[in-house]
Amino acid sequence: MVKLGVNIDHVASVRELRKGAFPEPAIAALIAQEAKAASIVVHLREDRRHIKDADLYILKQVVKTKLNLEMSTAPEIVGIACKIRPDQATLVPEKRKELTTEGGLNVAANLKLVRDTVNKLKKNGIIVSLFIDPEKKQIDAARKSGVNMIELHTGRFANAKNDLEQEKCLKEISDAVKYAKKLKLAVNAGHGLDYNNVSRIARIKGIEELNIGYSIICRSVIVGLKQAIKEMRDLL
Ligand code: PXP
Repeated sequence: MVKLGVNIDHVASVRELRKGAFPEPAIAALIAQEAKAASIVVHLREDRRHIKDADLYILKQVVKTKLNLEMSTAPEIVGIACKIRPDQATLVPEKRKELTTEGGLNVAANLKLVRDTVNKLKKNGIIVSLFIDPEKKQIDAARKSGVNMIELHTGRFANAKNDLEQEKCLKEISDAVKYAKKLKLAVNAGHGLDYNNVSRIARIKGIEELNIGYSIICRSVIVGLKQAIKEMRDLL
């Protein structure tokens, strides 16, 4: 069975709506672990719009499965990662104004920077993965950068406008998995996966872990709402 990494960024996004203390990402991490998530994923963005440095210190203490830190190659963020030492770091591209990560890291065009960052993280005992588009050029570059693991960007597949386009994206991902396995890379995938589209990706042989956030947090609001209302009514 494919493992599930649960991205809890948007628990922190809700907290930041009021800049308060709740809901706490650490509590969400504990619940996700209890629900057999294989890893807890968070993205410390340069603008700190959801997960904050303090969250990372707490998560490092409470996560007993695997803490996977999504991060850019910005020196400040790399420094924090080397201090906190999550089990894994996944390098992602980052643009300030984007609502979410918009594509894979262009490793081919930034090989030196990526290789240097990978080396720094590895020296600190951190396993490194690269979030890349399902393209041979990027997989070859990932191999050259010194990582043993990649995460294929499924965003294009998730946003496909029709069946034909989705089929094409699915084939791209499946071909990319085969190619990466030939190069002895461990392959994960994620972005934009939800309850309707995940099974088509989960069926691809060779993918070890899927990292999913937004759809799970959205669903939890809906399935948890009745209980939350009951608890409040009981207090009235
Ligand atoms: N994988 C990576 C590398 C990501 O950047 C994200 C978004 O933070 C995800 C997976 C999860 O994407 P989503 O929230 O759309 O499930």
